[in-house]
Amino acid sequence: MISGSPGKWVIEDAGSRSGSYLNGRLFQREELVLGDILKIGPFGFRFDGLRFVGTFGTTGAVLEAWELSKTAGGTKILDAVTLRIEACQFVGVIGPSGAGKSTLLDALCALRPADSGQVTVDGVDIYRHYEFLRDSLGYVPQDDIVPLELPVEEALYYSARLRFPAETPLAEIRKVVARTISQLGLTERAGTRVGSLSGGQRKRVSVGAELLGRPRLLFLDEPTSGLDPSAEFKLMESLRLLAAGGCTVICTTHVMENVHLMDRLAVLSEGRLVFFDEPGSARGAFGIERMTQLYERIPHAPRLPDAAGAPPKPREPEQHPSPRRAPALRILLLRQWAILRADWKNLLLVLGQPALIGLMVTWVTRDPALILFFAMISTLWFGCGNAAQEIVKELPMFRRERLIGLGRHEYLLSKFLTLSRITVVQSLLLYGVMQLCASGIGGSPGWQIGALVATSLASVGLGLAISALSRTILQAVMLVPLVLIPQILFSGFTPPAGDMKPGPYFVSRLMPSASTQAVMDTSLFWGKKITGSMRVDFPTAFSNLNHDKSLRNGQIYQNPRPAVEGLAALLAWTISTYVAAWFGIRGKERG
Ligand SMILES: Nc1ncnc2c1ncn2[C@@H]1O[C@H](COP(=O)(O)OP(=O)(O)OP(=O)(O)O)[C@@H](O)[C@H]1O
Ligand SMILES: [Mg+2]
Repeated sequence: MISGSPGKWVIEDAGSRSGSYLNGRLFQREELVLGDILKIGPFGFRFDGLRFVGTFGTTGAVLEAWELSKTAGGTKILDAVTLRIEACQFVGVIGPSGAGKSTLLDALCALRPADSGQVTVDGVDIYRHYEFLRDSLGYVPQDDIVPLELPVEEALYYSARLRFPAETPLAEIRKVVARTISQLGLTERAGTRVGSLSGGQRKRVSVGAELLGRPRLLFLDEPTSGLDPSAEFKLMESLRLLAAGGCTVICTTHVMENVHLMDRLAVLSEGRLVFFDEPGSARGAFGIERMTQLYERIPHAPRLPDAAGAPPKPREPEQHPSPRRAPALRILLLRQWAILRADWKNLLLVLGQPALIGLMVTWVTRDPALILFFAMISTLWFGCGNAAQEIVKELPMFRRERLIGLGRHEYLLSKFLTLSRITVVQSLLLYGVMQLCASGIGGSPGWQIGALVATSLASVGLGLAISALSRTILQAVMLVPLVLIPQILFSGFTPPAGDMKPGPYFVSRLMPSASTQAVMDTSLFWGKKITGSMRVDFPTAFSNLNHDKSLRNGQIYQNPRPAVEGLAALLAWTISTYVAAWFGIRGKERG
């Protein structure tokens, strides 16, 4: 019997004879939390925050792998691995470095499918029906999959919102987050930034992000690496409890101390499975006295016999639960905003920087052309700098969220919109300070503001492309000057276009900075009468705008063409770098 009201539903067992189980346990009276699984006789239901809906399986799933093989660079990194993992077992995958543990784990959870072989979850082929099984799987990679900048509670809140259907009440999401935090023993740390936690606590938060969706199968890649023995034991113990609570858990590890907590141990050597049984029987099988001696014997162990006969025939999934997911773009934008707010020192730096640069530039010079040149280069620097690390630093999180159904475009657009907003604010703040301190820069503010806004967008595009195409944060950081120095050199400010040889002139026409410069040059001449003294007062703008020898003395300059072309080129840069970033993240999805 279910009673209560939205926000507090209570379930009571009215003496069912066939036995009702809530989350695998008999119950009397319980308050319902999002994701709770009710089993009545042969039927399973899942509480979605509003009602119970039919569900695929109610407890840990059975995982079967048959003859999984994979080749990379001419070597077999997975060699005909066959195993069957029963429901609610806790299985460890061990082996020396490079033995293929991560490869096997990724093949089992379909992150990086094997070249041949079959994997089924409760008899359903995971490679063919990934969408159907997606909500049943949890995967914790070696790196963090929640933003380090946010407090634990907030980080998990956004992870949950990305995972649950659109109509899930937010109060229910808060409840499931609170319960997950307490389940992981992190209640006292709920308000601490994830980045400030210890390694073990941080790992538990990543596990928590996966537990939110109540997976029936949880994969973890080296969850204990970098932990001290006590943190390691605690994490392994919590995985043991998780398995007992109705989740099949498979985790790779290097360490042997805690294998007694596992139901099964899989030992890999050069891609081959050499042992798959209870940990207790490993001693006999390897002829060793202590488990810690196992590694010495692994290279000599014979592989297990190949699977006999044909693979088990997979079944078709009977229903396709496809709950409407919450609009991810909005949630990602909210999360980005929360990240920005979470670190006020960083925010202060973001806003202080342009003000300081504006003051410095106008202190040194009152030359309008030079001031505008600095406004442009600073804007390029702001945008590129803001964006260059954004994607590469959270690739593991992106990869994981991609697996739960996040779109590439939603992810990239959320980054682009957030960073563009910040960069535009920075750029206009800089411009405002410059206008104020120079008591008016001169020229047409309309063109100047347009140029800075367009440059902000293009520079964020450039930064995102750098970030998406870099392999490491260091690489991204090093690429920024490599992209920005040519912007100074080929901008047409110094040397001006008229002084460039044909080769550099051609290159400069392709540069975003030269496009901005064209708009700034136009802004300085806009509505003014062309006179001989302009050649002296604005040598750069004169040289650039008169490159085609079209300026005439006495003419009122109102030719929008260079500026419009410049703005169009900046737009083209924004779009093309966005597309490049899109391809960049597509190439990085599978690690
Ligand atoms: N994409 C790839 N291209 C080429 N070789 C690869 C690729 N992925 C993995 N390998 C190779 O496959 C082997 C197994 O790699 P894997 O990462 O699965 O090992 P591991 O057991 O997880 O090692 P570790 O304990 O260091 O994490 C290694 O020799 C590795 O170099
Ligand atoms: Mg590995």
